[in-house]
Amino acid sequence: MAAVVLIGSQWGDEGKGKITDFLAEKANVVVRYQGGNNAGHTVVANGEEFKLHLIPSGILYEDKTCVIGNGVVIDPQVLLEELSYLAIRGIKIGKLLISSNAHIIMPYHRVLDGLEEEVRAEHKIGTTKRGIGPAYMDKASRIGIRVIDLMDKEEFADKLKRNLTEKNNLFVKVYGKEALKFEDIYETYLGYAEQLRSMVTDSSLVIDQSIQAGEKVLFEGAQGTLLDIDHGTYPYVTSSHPIAGGACIGAGIGPTRINRVIGVIKAYTTRVGEGPFPTELLDEVGEEIQKNGHEFGTTTGRARRCGWFDAVIARYAVRVSGISDFAITKLDVLTGFDTLKICVGYSVNGEIIREFPQSQKIFKQCQPVYEEMPGWQEDVTHVRQFGDLPEAARNYILRIEELSGIPATLVAIGPGREQTIVRGEIF
Ligand code: GDP
Ligand code: IMO
Ligand code: MG
Repeated sequence: MAAVVLIGSQWGDEGKGKITDFLAEKANVVVRYQGGNNAGHTVVANGEEFKLHLIPSGILYEDKTCVIGNGVVIDPQVLLEELSYLAIRGIKIGKLLISSNAHIIMPYHRVLDGLEEEVRAEHKIGTTKRGIGPAYMDKASRIGIRVIDLMDKEEFADKLKRNLTEKNNLFVKVYGKEALKFEDIYETYLGYAEQLRSMVTDSSLVIDQSIQAGEKVLFEGAQGTLLDIDHGTYPYVTSSHPIAGGACIGAGIGPTRINRVIGVIKAYTTRVGEGPFPTELLDEVGEEIQKNGHEFGTTTGRARRCGWFDAVIARYAVRVSGISDFAITKLDVLTGFDTLKICVGYSVNGEIIREFPQSQKIFKQCQPVYEEMPGWQEDVTHVRQFGDLPEAARNYILRIEELSGIPATLVAIGPGREQTIVRGEIF
């Protein structure tokens, strides 16, 4: 019996797709539990690159069951496009299941996401404009449309009408835009419903049965710890729970079922969108990391802001998710620097703090306190054993382990499935 939750430990894009794909080889079931197509998970399998937004990264293996859990917000158009993209790329879909309780992203959610960002002006969040926030808003307001509603013509018509009355009032009276038409959305979405119907199920039950049967279940988080709506850098966050606890809610399984939590963490830090970022490098070092790490968003193509590794964030992620193992990614990107820096605390108002602050006003003022370590010049992308890494690279990993108190069980030295150093069993 093994249930492993995999999460992002920083601000997303840590390489969750790559590590999920790597671990999925041994798993039976792979589950997405929160977020939606704001996620962009890149997997490089057998030299071919795949970009996934909604479908679990286990889909590249034909014999896995992939599940989109109740905590995910689903844009059916994007899901169907992703299925055809995979088919065109020669991927045979084994089994994909969708929770009947997952909420649906509607066209008005996408429109609202854009309008709300416009109104926020200089306070904008820098969302992916995929309608994620507005869809979760409707879920919390108890007017959302779920997969199960979409499968029922009458129920769907009723809920869509009620939603459109409210949304069109906003569009016309507040934003001065045109109203959306019921007929257009209704017919299109009923078409989606027919294409998805055979995949809809009680996914919590399927996952539980699988765990009870001794199968291996991998929960693939999207986004990252600091984008969590409760524990992240609010308000510069997403609208779901990317932390490990989110897997329980978003998949419908209890916390006692989880055996391990893998924190995927980059060997440095990146962030897309707005918000404070103490170790951000606005100089040529930051540009070098961005260039070497190809730090451009999978979903929006935006340049990712880059900075040094932040051990305060690493320890915070360990705390809020109970991380048992780190998967450190992109170590290869740090090759070629004479010295590397690790942030071990923040200096703020003449004080040194070592714990992640609750106040964003304080976080904004935090200046990183750095430790310096020697870098390495050797190419590490072909290394497969930890002992074969240059001494400085080994020391860098060991220092991260020491500062966080968590073993780096996996170390990635390239995007490929095989470019993964394994230092212990996960499944
Ligand atoms: P995710 O959202 O956490 O799945 O991460 P993304 O896929 O958005 O971004 C991570 C990027 O880094 C992808 O392009 C991966 O192919 C790539 N990647 C993952 N691990 C490594 C690694 O160890 N080294 C290098 N050079 N690239 C990696
Ligand atoms: P993966 O799964 C990085 C960021 C957006 C924005 C904020 C809110 O690939 O790691 P949203 O559209 O969710 O309302 O945007 O969250 N964001 C991500 N950043 N990786 C992601 O996903 C992200 N998903 C959302 O840039 O700052
Ligand atoms: Mg990503």
